[in-house]
Amino acid sequence: MKPIKIGLLGLGTVGAGTFRVLRRNQQEIIRRAGRGIEISMIAVRDLPKAQAIVAGACEVVTDCLQVVNHPDIDIVVELMGGTEFTKELVLTAIANGKHVVTANKALLAIHGNEIFRAAQDKGVMVAFEAAVAGGIPIIKALREGLTANRIEWVAGIINGTTNFILSEMRDKGLDFATVLKQAQELGYAEADPTFDIEGVDAAHKATIMAAIAFGIPMQFDKAHVEGISALQAIDINYAEQLGYRIKLLGIAKRTTKGIELRVHPTLIPSNRLIANVEGAMNAVLVQGDAVGASMYYGRGAGAEPTASAVIADLVDITRLATADPEHRVPHMAFQPDSIRQEVVLPMAEITTSYYLRLSVADQTGVLADVTRIMADFTISIDAMLQKEPAQDETKTDIIMLTHQTQEKNVLAAIEKIEQLSSVYGQVTKIRLEQLS
Ligand code: NAP
Ligand code: HSE
Repeated sequence: MKPIKIGLLGLGTVGAGTFRVLRRNQQEIIRRAGRGIEISMIAVRDLPKAQAIVAGACEVVTDCLQVVNHPDIDIVVELMGGTEFTKELVLTAIANGKHVVTANKALLAIHGNEIFRAAQDKGVMVAFEAAVAGGIPIIKALREGLTANRIEWVAGIINGTTNFILSEMRDKGLDFATVLKQAQELGYAEADPTFDIEGVDAAHKATIMAAIAFGIPMQFDKAHVEGISALQAIDINYAEQLGYRIKLLGIAKRTTKGIELRVHPTLIPSNRLIANVEGAMNAVLVQGDAVGASMYYGRGAGAEPTASAVIADLVDITRLATADPEHRVPHMAFQPDSIRQEVVLPMAEITTSYYLRLSVADQTGVLADVTRIMADFTISIDAMLQKEPAQDETKTDIIMLTHQTQEKNVLAAIEKIEQLSSVYGQVTKIRLEQLS
């Protein structure tokens, strides 16, 4: 059988990794796919740079439309990034009857509903394993391996850059800017690294996981997004003393009132496996009603781990290209006519536990005032830590861990606590998940 022809958009970190692995493992891949998978055209901006990589192995152009409109290309692999121009290119490829593979989580979280509808109408596949958690086959697990389950929640470390930053800062005492530069050099960070640091990239991925776990549309605009830029070393240290580790988690949870979809720094008990996921590694915990908890761990970013997921999609499409579209796994795991709109809860309505740090005057009655306010808002305290003030200091820190409560109770209590004359500045609040 003649090889399936690939048109590649982008030859950067992931594109070059895909080009390399596909060539290196071509024979093994043919044995699995049943036919060759050949890159026949690549579009980039910087022609000489790309030509040096491909060394004449295929045509390199600067006009992306040449790739998506080329009659001989069967699969368009989008590894460029960006959302608007890329959406146009992907929709054109689909309209031309081409299958699409993409690693672009931003594109799918924002325009996925429209792209999957177009692909459904045209009977082509859009595969996106590389869009979530790099080389970990979490999309395959959610869409296929766990298909018997009613999925209750998914929680994961799904941004390699921020996990790398948190690990290196804690273990090596390096500063934020130095570690971010390393993450960029290693090819982990997004073109705009604020997407990583401010939690946007993780929220794109959490949006995709929520959609395929619960059978809901992509609703990135409803996700709560909070990154690591406001996180302070003092809270990482206090968390450690209390037996917790702080990770940037993406959480999608089904509740009786609606879906929780949120990304934020989170305290996790340090004896949980996921709390010990370090560096650019990712891990996703999935709670299914039949299987219970299962965890998926591996490299979440970088050239070849991501290429591994891109090529897995290419092999899947190659195997299924001749199958009747109705017999393929649905793009979003659920049949398109059974995707249901469900309420994504505003943050005030979510329920979780909290770490609170207060800077207070070292004087009688402060703790009583604070705990009275907590009780007024029905917040139950689970653990508390009060440090002796440093020599010649008149203020000290109080750290409290709460039992589960609604976010709106905590916000209201914090507002009252901050009004106490014995409390200095703002109360630091970090959410806490037991993940049990
Ligand atoms: P990258 O290194 O910046 O590479 C982007 C590539 O796209 C470059 O070859 C660039 O060409 C090309 N490109 C960008 N805009 C273009 C345009 N308008 N016309 C033609 N070519 C264009 O990015 P990357 O890290 O490989 O990421 C690619 C995608 O994969 C993104 O969606 C990213 O979110 C996703 N992803 C990345 C990783 C990772 O670890 N890096 C992991 C999972 C998913 P020039 O070099 O010539 O400018
Ligand atoms: N910037 C992303 C990360 C790349 O650091 O996880 C992988 O999606």
